[in-house]
Amino acid sequence: MEESFLLELAEEHGTPLFIVDHDIIRENYRRFRTALPRVQAYYAIKANPEPEIIETLFKEGASFDVASLAEFLRVYNLIKSWRKQEKSGFIWDKIIYANTIKQIETLKRLRPYKPLVTYDNESELVKIKEHCDTAGLVCRVNVPDTGSMVEFSSKFGVDPADAGYLIEKAFSLGLSVEGISFHVGSQCTNPDNYVTALNISAEILDEVEKRHRLRLIDIGGGFPIAYLGNEIRFESLARIINSELERLFRRELEIIAEPGRFMVANSAVLITQIIGKAKRKGKLFYYIDDGVYGTFSGVVYDHCQYHFSSLNKKDGEKEICAVVGPTCDGFDKVSMSEELPDDLQLGDYLLTRNIGAYTTVSATDYNGIPRAKILHMNR
Ligand SMILES: Cc1ncc(COP(=O)(O)O)c(C=O)c1O
Repeated sequence: MEESFLLELAEEHGTPLFIVDHDIIRENYRRFRTALPRVQAYYAIKANPEPEIIETLFKEGASFDVASLAEFLRVYNLIKSWRKQEKSGFIWDKIIYANTIKQIETLKRLRPYKPLVTYDNESELVKIKEHCDTAGLVCRVNVPDTGSMVEFSSKFGVDPADAGYLIEKAFSLGLSVEGISFHVGSQCTNPDNYVTALNISAEILDEVEKRHRLRLIDIGGGFPIAYLGNEIRFESLARIINSELERLFRRELEIIAEPGRFMVANSAVLITQIIGKAKRKGKLFYYIDDGVYGTFSGVVYDHCQYHFSSLNKKDGEKEICAVVGPTCDGFDKVSMSEELPDDLQLGDYLLTRNIGAYTTVSATDYNGIPRAKILHMNR
């Protein structure tokens, strides 16, 4: 979107203003499907669960990864008027409950839907057997996440050496294991993580298939976007993944993925307004009307560094400034090294791009400061 148009929107709607461009979401989905034609994309709605976004991807034909009953119901909402058989077909084929630890109450509520769920430990199997034995199971394996922006390997996934046992255990309890999954860490710019994880999965599959036929391999999320521009291009990564998929897995095996960030991160921008300006120990500080307790929560939870440009003034001498949030907390600093014009004044606007994933969803209204208004364009 042109900056002049963004400026008009800020004047009209006020700030902080979070603008989602649905044309970009559709483009991302198509780009994913083109580059990885064998892989069905289950959008991980945790990245941005706005109903409008879920609906756009639903219309594109996406499947969905959910992490809680509430997320499951958000997707279910789109099909609740369908006939019973169509609904159960959709739930089985197009939703995965990809949180390996589930509350008992959740399992009880999921039971009638016959969901596909992940697990990675024996205690979870006992829970599933007792409270949701209709589920299809996907065993999540621990894989390397070297260099990924967000790591998961310290919390999730059965050790590959124990995966065969854990899958056998499920079958011995009378449960049905459908496949194997992994996650290489979010914003994974290291293709070796995918290659290693695919090879680990293939070894486990070969072992298990001596006794049981499995249906799918779930290659998780992690697909990177260009925050800095020097990351591996998605298409280059896809080429490596495709060649391993071709080499390691028979044609009939379903390959699914759970992309979150890739679908939405570059679809949104945030416009903030300067509400304060001060020199602190010789450094220029711009205080803005959103911060790490708000849309910039990704600084904390997603380990993401956001950047700023001036939306309405370009001419001033540039210097290294701090951009900080509006709360009373000293921790509320978005960036300590932004190159911005030194002549920005209260009321001027800053623009942040690539802010669509893991941002609004973890924002709070700490200090009573309201969250950003969300605008959906090109729906
Ligand atoms: C189980 C699972 N799948 C998929 C995702 C989405 O990952 P990404 O946004 O890196 O694609 C996550 C992110 O937390 C996850 O935990």
